[in-house]
Amino acid sequence: MSPSASTQEFRAYVNAREKRDILRFITCGSVDDGKSTLIGRLLYESRLIFQDQLARLEADSKRHGTLGGALDLALLVDGLQAEREQGITIDVAYRTFSTDKRSFIVADTPGHEQYTRNMATGASTTDLAIVLIDARKGVMPQTRRHTTILSLLGIRHVILAINKMDLVAWSQTVHDGIVEVYRDFAKRLDVTDLTCVPVSALTGDNVIKPSAAMGWHHGPTLLQALESADVATDRERLPFRMPVQWVNRPDTGFRGFAGTIASGLVRPGDSVLICPAHKLSTVSRIVTADGDLTCARAGQAVTLTLADEIDVSRGDVIASATHPPGQSDQFACYLIWMHENALLPNRPYLLKIGTHVVGAQITALKYKLNVESLERVAAKALELNDIAYCNVSLDRQIAFDPYRELRETGGFILIDRYTRATVGAGTIDFALRRASNLTRHKFAVDKPARSAQKNQKACVLWLTGLSGAGKSTTANAVEQRLHALGRHSYVLDGDNLRHGLTKDLGFIPADRVENVRRIAEVAKLFVDAGLIVLVSVISPFRDEREMARRMMEEGEFIEVFVDAPLEVCERRDPKGLYRKARAGELKNFTGIDSSYEPPEHPDIVLKTGERSVDELADQVIAYLRSRFEHPAG
Ligand code: ADX
Repeated sequence: MSPSASTQEFRAYVNAREKRDILRFITCGSVDDGKSTLIGRLLYESRLIFQDQLARLEADSKRHGTLGGALDLALLVDGLQAEREQGITIDVAYRTFSTDKRSFIVADTPGHEQYTRNMATGASTTDLAIVLIDARKGVMPQTRRHTTILSLLGIRHVILAINKMDLVAWSQTVHDGIVEVYRDFAKRLDVTDLTCVPVSALTGDNVIKPSAAMGWHHGPTLLQALESADVATDRERLPFRMPVQWVNRPDTGFRGFAGTIASGLVRPGDSVLICPAHKLSTVSRIVTADGDLTCARAGQAVTLTLADEIDVSRGDVIASATHPPGQSDQFACYLIWMHENALLPNRPYLLKIGTHVVGAQITALKYKLNVESLERVAAKALELNDIAYCNVSLDRQIAFDPYRELRETGGFILIDRYTRATVGAGTIDFALRRASNLTRHKFAVDKPARSAQKNQKACVLWLTGLSGAGKSTTANAVEQRLHALGRHSYVLDGDNLRHGLTKDLGFIPADRVENVRRIAEVAKLFVDAGLIVLVSVISPFRDEREMARRMMEEGEFIEVFVDAPLEVCERRDPKGLYRKARAGELKNFTGIDSSYEPPEHPDIVLKTGERSVDELADQVIAYLRSRFEHPAG
């Protein structure tokens, strides 16, 4: 059924309003503070107003004979699709309403356990926050936590709604006391615009209509504050950025780059920089389903064609050439941790910024922020809802802007490599220039030359398994055979290295991650030296073993699972450590009170409980012979 004239006109009316002014805001506070009642009242009363206007519009248009019939309110909800597609699909409810001054999109974030995750999601595209306080309770630890997070997420406009004023006899003294405490806290953060409104969501006082009971309040009502908040961040005035979502190549004649404009404006003829390749070009056309455009702006989904044949792929950013983004692979950033599994420095994660996904590691946890006192606390790991300042290192360069300048290209999420869950959200503070001042030297004598001289294929045999599984015993036997065969090898043994290279590390998960990272780096160097490297470390976590694999070239990393059941290792107990662990004298012992994640697809499995050391060593040598063109033997 084709839309009626009235629907079309309504659509035009709504579109016009939407284009003119949309305010996206978030509400924080717990259910007890009266959040649901407040949002309910806002929606209900404003909708009445809205419907009032529509009725008027309808009456007017009837007089002119053009309007009437079905209305398509769902249109107001269309703009939400983008948020849903952002990759963090969680428990945030979006609602919309309109007055004749503005349209509003409210992100209602539940105040439970996962609040940082929900707030980060809700806040990523919002300009303003309503922080709700129960007048009887005043500023609570949660109020401080929420305000800190809002500030870190770049929200500069806050309306403090002091609710339940009816229950404190509309007292100005109570109100002023709360405002003073809150202002004092907020001024230590980046909240530049604070409006305080005493309300009663229950009675409706100062929500939409001014309160007769609180004649002492000369400021705006909540709705007036929302309508007049000057959030002219004006994404259109910011420099042009468009992360490329996909390359549209229907035939050889057409090559377009599709995406949603994150900020700024673009016109045919504009000169643009393709990042991070750093190639200059000019926009030829702005293509849409409804024909070519002469101009496109932030929020629009378009396809650009360029004047030059440049290799552009998903994840690249097409940006203003006059105001280009920065480029780096190391950053100082704020990070909000959103997962039950702790963040461990140096663990490999994926980082998604715009449409670009790259490998990432947190290389240094500078400090954790106590979000209530704003104190800086030392930390070795991050737990759910923790916020930290840290350094992040990526496996390649990306185009970026500092978050405070441009949220769209300065904010990122961290993703778990295995589960693909969103585990953290971050904001880039600035780029660390360390890497950009370094260059790699290429030496004439290289890995192939060194390997060839030794007449072998350099590789890593990575032996993983429980303590007492037989890793070092097997490594010793394998190396003896290699040596007898004239091969050049080296064993990197966990216990031995802990006397030097990794002397400073203990056995908490964060230290084990760093232990494996260092050993993998050394193994990589030894492979580069042309050696057959035997690594013998528990290396209990899959993530880090995978990281080691990715650090080597294809086919160089051979994962050997030294597989003995815990009971067998415990019975052997060569160093008496299981006994100590069981007696509670040794903490974080692998297999007892620290986890071991067995390999899912090991290249070799050695059953040390079932076969002799000689047989196992033969098994490894046979594998090497069958695997490489120039057999190890
Ligand atoms: S890893 O987990 O970080 O890879 P690594 O292989 O270097 O461990 O060191 C393990 C060795 O340290 C064991 O063989 C054992 O002798 C000793 N050790 C001491 N404390 C522990 C512990 N809590 N857990 C495991 N091994 C321990």
